[in-house]
Amino acid sequence: EKQGFRHYMLKEIHEQPGVVRSSLETYLNPNWHVSENPDFSPINLGLSSQLYENTDYIQIVACGTSWHASLIGKYLLEQLAGIPTTVDYASEYRYSPKPVIPKTLTIGVTQSGETADTIAALEMERARRSKLDSKFQAQLLAITNRPESTIGQICNHIINTQAGIEIGVAATKTFIAQVLGFYYLALDLAYHRKTLSNERISEIIEGLHHIPDSIEKTLETQDKAIEELAHNFTQETEDFIFIGRGINFPIALEGALKLKEISYIHAEAYPAGEMKHGPIALLDHKVPVVAVAMPGSVYEKVISNAQEAKARDARLIGVTSAMNSQEAAHTFNDLLTVPEVEELLSPILAVIPLQLLSYHIAAIKGLDVDQPRNLAKSVTVE
Ligand code: F6R
Repeated sequence: EKQGFRHYMLKEIHEQPGVVRSSLETYLNPNWHVSENPDFSPINLGLSSQLYENTDYIQIVACGTSWHASLIGKYLLEQLAGIPTTVDYASEYRYSPKPVIPKTLTIGVTQSGETADTIAALEMERARRSKLDSKFQAQLLAITNRPESTIGQICNHIINTQAGIEIGVAATKTFIAQVLGFYYLALDLAYHRKTLSNERISEIIEGLHHIPDSIEKTLETQDKAIEELAHNFTQETEDFIFIGRGINFPIALEGALKLKEISYIHAEAYPAGEMKHGPIALLDHKVPVVAVAMPGSVYEKVISNAQEAKARDARLIGVTSAMNSQEAAHTFNDLLTVPEVEELLSPILAVIPLQLLSYHIAAIKGLDVDQPRNLAKSVTVE
């Protein structure tokens, strides 16, 4: 039941610290130390050694929020494990598949495990490679919250995101759990392929251990403030723009999708550097801009893109970390602050205020947050 929360979505947002905590317990090896036995991975995914040696290329297929998690996955797999990775919408991939490349790992990401397009894309991949030489054959990995589902039966490897059942149609805790799945996969591959030093791996793991407390802190400090902010956008606001760069561009996409789905406000997301190539023409005082501006390699760039938006009278909302909040206060009209976090891990925190923002706007509008119009939790038709 809703345990005192007004909607399942809010309950599920608040479950995220616990989901991350139990996921870390399952997938991180507590006994791993930097200098120990090289065959003992810091990550417990139970993947076969063949997969570590035989993966030169990764292709990911997914839909909706799972596609956003996959874009973060691409960043991690390329930057940490050095494996070229593509991400396709499953509904597109089905009808224009890539030429077959040997030693490819195909990953299907689906919370429900039943999304028709994602299943069909994976089945097609398996079928078209089944008659080929073994190095061309499909290695299929599912990242799913329901390992007993159809996708679990198609794939020969599974990462169970174990977020618990999600009732709200808008994905929240399952998104976070999918993103974690990609951290594990990228770290495990990086460890076996030696693309990261053990010191760096242990630093990232240390950072992951702080995430549950940091999500808790974000919920405690931001929930009320964001609810208050949300009141500004429930009457006249018809459009929102979300911007982000690098590992946080997918978070801008996710923020925009959440808002569209449950509040029915039109929202678009762009890589911040793309604004000047067209979308900036949309901006005026009626179009709020949400910038995901987490400290790191592209922070200054995002800030300068945000300032360009401000010069067009847009109301600017910034998602940043405590580390930068004083300085960021000069740029943004409103600041949504999360605890300090290194750039690599920042998407897991940056998404939380955006989930809350869309939730509160929809709830204040009195909309059916858990069952938005025209949407189903599991899309089993093409
Ligand atoms: C967004 C949302 C949808 C799903 C999409 C894929 O909040 O819920 O966009 O992410 O329908 O669903 P799964 O992950 O079950 O394949």
